[in-house]
Amino acid sequence: MTYEYESDSINLKKHLRCERIGSSIIFLPEIDSTNDLIKKYLMNNVSEGLVVVAETQTAGRGRRGRSWHSPPETGIYLSTLLKPNLELSQLSIITLLVGVAAVLTVNKFSNQNAYLKWPNDILIDSKKVCGLLCEMVKKQGAPDGVIIGIGINVNQMPEQFPDHLKSIATSIRIVNGFPIDRLAVIQSFLENLDHEYQTYLNEGESSVIKKWSLNTKLFGKNVSIKHGSNVTTGSAMRLDELGRLVLLLDNGYEEAFDSGEVSIRED
Ligand code: BTN
Repeated sequence: MTYEYESDSINLKKHLRCERIGSSIIFLPEIDSTNDLIKKYLMNNVSEGLVVVAETQTAGRGRRGRSWHSPPETGIYLSTLLKPNLELSQLSIITLLVGVAAVLTVNKFSNQNAYLKWPNDILIDSKKVCGLLCEMVKKQGAPDGVIIGIGINVNQMPEQFPDHLKSIATSIRIVNGFPIDRLAVIQSFLENLDHEYQTYLNEGESSVIKKWSLNTKLFGKNVSIKHGSNVTTGSAMRLDELGRLVLLLDNGYEEAFDSGEVSIRED
């Protein structure tokens, strides 16, 4: 079922219980990338809380220059804008809090538990159900806004994923065995994000790190982390106060990573 663009936007805005998010809501049949559209609005000085949802994206972007497969009528492709008063270094905490909002949302609808893989993949049974792309935009050297982009695999059937994703992606429908209402998922994500953002602004990063840590299975696992052209192996211990992943290395030292791609080692 496709979105009813105008009425879905009006109804969502009417029912949304948010302080900051959803000041304007736009549903579109097609766009290159919802993150890129928000960036254009930001350059025209739009206020915090704008939400853009697209039925399909022709150039959906993932992390690390990858593309995000965005077919119509199955997945959610959504971006919103936050304008916190933050330094660039605090972007990683924002990314983690969006991850918390996303995992709580998926868990509300999925019959099987989803969990977070640092920094921001949401997995069910080791397969990706949701991805996040958070981008800080600067104006004259200072942060102007953070664009939060989320892709959720909601109603895809296994055969609807392209071959290269079949073994690494899943959807809530695949897990549950029945389709679910994308609008309910969108509403839940926006409300969770609004709540987690407000909690962070009131209480600081420790609340984010605590909740993130409650929703991961990473700690205690042997992992390798690819950062630049290097790979480091060790045991994943915890997140530090900056949201960095702390590994206990084989030589007994601890090292904290602020970026990288984590794989769990099955040894
Ligand atoms: C990842 O690589 O895991 C991040 C995927 C993020 C995809 C979403 S879909 C909506 C928004 N617009 C984009 O172009 N990307 C994000």
